[in-house]
Amino acid sequence: MSIPITNTVYVLNGPNLNLLGTREPEIYGSDTLDDIAGMLEDRGRELGLEIDMRQTNHEGMLVDWLHEAQAESAMAVLLNAAAYTHTSISLLDAVRAIRTPVIEVHLSDPSTREDFRHISYVGMAAHETVQGLGARSYVVALDVAARLQNGT
Ligand code: DQA
Repeated sequence: MSIPITNTVYVLNGPNLNLLGTREPEIYGSDTLDDIAGMLEDRGRELGLEIDMRQTNHEGMLVDWLHEAQAESAMAVLLNAAAYTHTSISLLDAVRAIRTPVIEVHLSDPSTREDFRHISYVGMAAHETVQGLGARSYVVALDVAARLQNGT
């Protein structure tokens, strides 16, 4: 028996995003992942949503967390799979395998960068993609999740 959908949004971050703030700031900006978590918590409070923010450098961990999001009846997942976006059929399958809506997020706009970033396996299954807005991509993606909840 499944438990009712909660008001928790999982925010899953992939490899190298732990270095945000100092990692190629000309591309990713100077906000750290903790800064972004703070922005999401502020917006989440306004929207009545709980934020569960996580980061890993390991592909399988992202798969496990996607399964967990469904098992825990999360209302949505914001997923910045970082470089795994462009390589991981496992993540594509995991996003397809769960009913929890997944919103793809990127700080930069991969479609304007190197060719190898133009394919997004995550994007093939994601409900929507928000990219190119820096840290604000996450906040806009949270608004998308909130609209999903309201059915608007
Ligand atoms: C990224 C874009 C990816 O191409 C890259 O590998 C990242 C970060 C972004 O948020 O802009 O690590 O997902």
